Amino acid sequence: MAGISSNKEPLRIGLIGCGFMGRAHSNAYNRVANFFDLPYKPQLKAVCSRNEADTRAFAETWGYESIETDWRALVDRDDVDAVDICVPNNLHSEIAAAVAAAGKMVLCEKPLAMNVAEGEAMCRAVEEAGVPNMVWYNYRRVPAVMLASQLIQEGKLGQIFHYRANFLQDWTIAKDLPQGGRALWRLDAAEAGSGVTGDLLAHCIDTALWLNGAIRDVSAMTATFVKQRMHQATGLVEAVGIDDACAFLCRFDNGSLGVFESTRYARGHKALFTLEINGEHASLRWDLHDLHRLQYFSHEDEGRLRGWRSIHVTEHDGSHPYMDKWWVPGLQIGYEHTFVHQVADFIEGLATGRPAAPTFRDALQTQRVCGAVLRSAGSDSWVQVSE
Ligand SMILES: NC(=O)c1ccc[n+]([C@@H]2O[C@H](COP(=O)([O-])OP(=O)(O)OC[C@H]3O[C@@H](n4cnc5c(N)ncnc54)[C@H](O)[C@@H]3O)[C@@H](O)[C@H]2O)c1
Repeated sequence: MAGISSNKEPLRIGLIGCGFMGRAHSNAYNRVANFFDLPYKPQLKAVCSRNEADTRAFAETWGYESIETDWRALVDRDDVDAVDICVPNNLHSEIAAAVAAAGKMVLCEKPLAMNVAEGEAMCRAVEEAGVPNMVWYNYRRVPAVMLASQLIQEGKLGQIFHYRANFLQDWTIAKDLPQGGRALWRLDAAEAGSGVTGDLLAHCIDTALWLNGAIRDVSAMTATFVKQRMHQATGLVEAVGIDDACAFLCRFDNGSLGVFESTRYARGHKALFTLEINGEHASLRWDLHDLHRLQYFSHEDEGRLRGWRSIHVTEHDGSHPYMDKWWVPGLQIGYEHTFVHQVADFIEGLATGRPAAPTFRDALQTQRVCGAVLRSAGSDSWVQVSE
């Protein structure tokens, strides 16, 4: 019987972090070559987290060839081309700098860094080393959101007047929820950098900058509703340093006005990421809970037929981004596919020399807006988003 050999070059992946994103990315690496015809095929070379038994179990589930329990050992390996950082935010910058110094490609989860200074250092590190880099702002790769981008680029909306976005959750309302450590590092400012601003609003901001251009200045307010929580690591009750909720107004360079809101205290909402854009000729609306649909209203429609239309983004004729790679028209895809698309675009970028966005440099702009939002909330004033 003849063996089957692949004509694809391997792209040898080393993954750090076996949690939520470790799973989402591993799934994407495993599936991408089944659906996209690309010159490189991810090869799951090694995975790293601190607990050996957990890491071994993860490696078996997802198909990694080997494990490490020290991220430095993974970064040093000669058989890894690209390192993927899926650990809490306080570790991103140190690991990224080490990966760049080792001359390897680096893919990093969002937010890029704990703050702007760290983000700037990370950009310098990858740019000086000349290594391909990308940040996982995956919602750009929802086909309906990509379609929104195309419609805006084509001028279908005309001048943009308003941009509004929300990201609402409800999982930290309980006063006895601890902070810090396994599963709860998002509540500890020392590990997360900030609360909903860096965790949830960062997604809304990345998408907004991509769809509607630069944000000039912001006026924000934040609240920390539960002021003290027990820390998982120490067992001590400590002050909570993150923002539980954040809302801000902003002005875009194109003259449009923005309204953003995020909280983990909106009872009943699990991951309600919505965005709406109002332009001179048309409006767009998208909702993560209904992610395969784009709502579109065109004032240019014949008057008696004018109304919001709900576009089911599943066409195969090239009119709907990515969808010709999947099933048949009418059959939709979901959350995990956004990561498959991002891996595909990263590989495409390696092949064409046109890097997939957002690069570290692109994601730094989101970090700057987050920084301005937190400074504005702290000073009760309008703050410029500086370069
Ligand atoms: N793109 C998105 O939509 C999205 C969604 C969720 C999380 N994230 C980002 O992904 C990153 C990870 O979040 P998560 O939800 O997967 O977290 P998680 O808590 O589920 O997993 C974190 C993993 O990191 C490991 N880890 C922690 N410290 C480590 C160390 N020193 N060395 C090796 N491994 C270590 C943990 O053992 C765990 O396996 C964060 O930056 C987060 O903001 C992005």
